Amino acid sequence: MRIVLLGPPGAGKGTLAARLAAHFDIPAVSTGDLFRKEVAAETGLGRRVKEILDRGDLVPDSVTVEIVEKRLKKADAREGFLLDGFPRTVGQAEALARIVELDCVLNLVVSDGEVIRRLSGRRVCPVCGTVYHVEFMPPKDDMVCDRDGAELITRDDDRIDSIKNRLAVYKGQTEPLIGYYAGTGLLLDIDASRSPREVFDAARAAVENRGEPG
Ligand code: AP5
Repeated sequence: MRIVLLGPPGAGKGTLAARLAAHFDIPAVSTGDLFRKEVAAETGLGRRVKEILDRGDLVPDSVTVEIVEKRLKKADAREGFLLDGFPRTVGQAEALARIVELDCVLNLVVSDGEVIRRLSGRRVCPVCGTVYHVEFMPPKDDMVCDRDGAELITRDDDRIDSIKNRLAVYKGQTEPLIGYYAGTGLLLDIDASRSPREVFDAARAAVENRGEPG
């Protein structure tokens, strides 16, 4: 199964990706996570992209396509994968089409107001990467990770100025992909304004029933 998750920042792509990846037994590949790992390890690439990520702009296509292509060559992605946050431009989509054939593209639909609520309340574990929300998915103990007890942090790009820029970048550069994929017949819209469980159930059913009438 080769799945792409499309949707605005904070739509819940990472949250859904973890559940779908476990269900279909395929790796979830998040370009945001790949870049944040480079930043945390202070590699040459990490130093080059840190400011871009903090502002909420897009990393250039050539760099992004290269990191994805390298990741998809790993053995665990041979039978399938779920791409979270890639492609984000028509250029990236065209490059991906040259590398693999997709089974479907899930487009998470959610309002700007909900995006801002979700991102401003997001907290993440700096050790294992588990994602929480202060209101919708709080940890059991205040501000520490349920899994490893590490103190939760706010992502550098979850400040309101960066969130607004990410939304503008999404509308300018990524939203056109909805039309691009609609033309291929791969696009499946998912109402992502519901609970994580409901969004997962709808996405799983959409993937499993794709191609069936009505
Ligand atoms: P990336 O990490 O991909 O950021 P994003 O697309 O902005 O998406 P987020 O990770 O912020 O949100 P999400 O949709 O995964 O939501 P989540 O599940 O966490 O990219 C970061 C940066 O890397 C980019 O800005 C860019 O600079 C660079 N980059 C990445 N890919 C690139 C590419 N292809 N090309 C160029 N540059 C690239 O959920 C959000 C919050 O809501 C959480 O708190 C969660 O608990 C909560 N939540 C989730 N689902 C629900 C629900 N159903 N109900 C209530 N709350 C929910």
